[in-house]
Amino acid sequence: MQQSMTVKEAMESRHSVRKFVQEPVVKEGLQEIINQARLAPSAWNLQPWRFHVVTDPEMKAKLQDAAYGQQQVTSAPAVIMVASDMEDVVANLKQTVHPGLSEEKKQEEVANLAAFFGGMTVEERGQWGLAQTNIALGFLLLAAQGAGYSTVPMLGFDPIKVRDILGLPDHVKFAAMVPIGHKDTEGYPHHRHSVNEIAFFH
Ligand SMILES: Cc1cc2nc3c(=O)[nH]c(=O)nc-3n(C[C@H](O)[C@H](O)[C@H](O)COP(=O)(O)O)c2cc1C
Repeated sequence: MQQSMTVKEAMESRHSVRKFVQEPVVKEGLQEIINQARLAPSAWNLQPWRFHVVTDPEMKAKLQDAAYGQQQVTSAPAVIMVASDMEDVVANLKQTVHPGLSEEKKQEEVANLAAFFGGMTVEERGQWGLAQTNIALGFLLLAAQGAGYSTVPMLGFDPIKVRDILGLPDHVKFAAMVPIGHKDTEGYPHHRHSVNEIAFFH
């Protein structure tokens, strides 16, 4: 796989693409992009992100329907749903704590985390997890760009329909739907605020 871009080059060249070349993407390529996205940091290292990769044409058509007909969904050879599942995290806290800790420390950390998240509603936990998962989304977009793929992050879809299509429980949140493939046509040029407008040095 091509991986010669610097992070700076990936950031500067990434832009949303909505029309893709009609050829399948290699599964190993997608796995490597997810392998890099999972390196994102998260609070307490809880890693609530889950990636659902859809290449099946019928399923993609359903996702496009759930995305109000946005054509890029079926134009892309693959669609990565970047999801967040905090209930899975909370149910498996033992697997999340660092394996290097002593048994006693592990139990202590699990108890602390269980108490912290136990004080939240499912919805509050969901929003907390989503904040972490958005970091992995950023990593995923740059990893894809670095590997020579184009993407478009999307939130214009009905999450209830998407959960239904993927067979996911109600508590699962989505950071984005990400059509991915090789670009057929360029996207729009960047338009961004200048550093002076958004950065404040105190
Ligand atoms: C969270 C999020 C949701 C978005 N939802 C959509 C969408 O539903 N449909 C779409 O065509 N583009 C969507 N976009 C793409 C934005 O329009 C695009 O990122 C923005 O205009 C900047 O352009 P660029 O990505 O080419 O730099 C979304 C982007 C983000 C980050």
